[in-house]
Amino acid sequence: MSTVGWIGLGKLGAVCALTLAKHGGHRVIGYDPSPRPAQILRGEVPPPQEEGIEALLPGADLTLASSPAQVVATADDVVFVAVQTPHSPAYGGETPMPQEPQDFEYQYLVQAVRDLCRAAAEQAKPITIAVISTCLPGTMNRLIRPLLNEFTTLVYNPAFIAMGTTIADCLKPEFVLIGADDRRNAQPVLDIHATVHDRPAQIMSIESAELTKVAYNVAVSTKIVVANAIMEICHKTGADCDAVTDALAAATDRVVSAKYMRGGMGDGGHCHPRDLIAMSWLAQRLDLSTDVLGYMVRAREAQSSWLADLVQQWGEQTGFDIMILGKAYKPGSDLTGGSPALLLAHQLRQRGLKLEHWDPHVDTGGAFAPDRPGVFVIATRHDEFPDYRFPSGSVVIDPHGYMPDQPGVTTTRVGRKG
Ligand SMILES: NC(=O)c1ccc[n+]([C@@H]2O[C@H](COP(=O)([O-])OP(=O)(O)OC[C@H]3O[C@@H](n4cnc5c(N)ncnc54)[C@H](O)[C@@H]3O)[C@@H](O)[C@H]2O)c1
Repeated sequence: MSTVGWIGLGKLGAVCALTLAKHGGHRVIGYDPSPRPAQILRGEVPPPQEEGIEALLPGADLTLASSPAQVVATADDVVFVAVQTPHSPAYGGETPMPQEPQDFEYQYLVQAVRDLCRAAAEQAKPITIAVISTCLPGTMNRLIRPLLNEFTTLVYNPAFIAMGTTIADCLKPEFVLIGADDRRNAQPVLDIHATVHDRPAQIMSIESAELTKVAYNVAVSTKIVVANAIMEICHKTGADCDAVTDALAAATDRVVSAKYMRGGMGDGGHCHPRDLIAMSWLAQRLDLSTDVLGYMVRAREAQSSWLADLVQQWGEQTGFDIMILGKAYKPGSDLTGGSPALLLAHQLRQRGLKLEHWDPHVDTGGAFAPDRPGVFVIATRHDEFPDYRFPSGSVVIDPHGYMPDQPGVTTTRVGRKG
């Protein structure tokens, strides 16, 4: 049995701390300046409305500390931080979003971590600070890392829980998400999770974990927005929303699956962009409340245009010729209908840039044998491209993230570290 520290015993923190104490057999020492956690433990106010909370309360080894310093002194190593990262009520979704969006408010998180760091230094006590609170990518590096000292190690460990099912979600998460500078830092936090479930862990950099946490919710929101656009189209065309969404939900190979959940080029094919464009026409004709379909068409084009910016910048920086490798819309194919590779080439040519465009599956004859360094853009994820040898000094721009490094060549795997 270990003693786990806990800072912030609100809606998420109190329930997770109790779950850890009860099901993991830990002693939990928690601090919260609010009187509410003590009132809940004494039975003076009702606990949060969570399935199974009554069974957690009796006998759970959760002790309330009078200060963060007491938490640091008592915890074995890991101290979880689950303080609020709120936004002003105007940004909660209960009313339309104001003109300008806004970041979360981090003052409580900064204060909580500052208190822990100070206590760890004063006590010369090494601790692992495992931040649970939700934040945007880059926040830990910008606001939290500068507070650390030689006694404190930072891990980002956000929770994927939904209010009402917090206990079940703590006991059986889809995965444990850990952002850490290296795996050794993550281990004490993983060990604690392993006492309550055997779910897999996703371990990555702190920035990647920050983004994964919010991107998870974005992906869920995207499904809801699409389902609701379908509902509106159904209402206006006489189709049945549940018949349509039930059929989509049954498409567990492509639609509801891990397929396509990978950054790269835009979608392509003889049907995809074409259907989306036709649907955006329908959305306008039906006067859909939001032009989400038109937005998706424009988002595909804008992402391609952003890649064109990247290619153009490398071209200008090096002075090299640009060559796009791949015309087909999918690997191992000669099909170019709706291909994002063609869209990218079109956008680059529209900028007045000269380029070569070649695909080993589409263009008969010829071989890849450049005689001077260039800017090479891997537009189609063909299997043979990783075996190509590029002249020394070349730049390879790879949106798919699968091209290996080559001596003397700068390989930019877009959006990937290393
Ligand atoms: N509630 C959820 O369903 C949920 C789910 C996933 C993630 N989150 C994230 O978890 C974090 C906490 O959410 P919540 O809903 O529990 O918030 P909450 O407002 O209910 O609780 C936060 C608690 O932290 C305490 N606190 C503030 N400053 C403190 C300090 N310096 N030291 C100790 N305690 C302090 C507050 O008194 C409060 O009790 C947020 O970042 C939230 O976005 C919440």
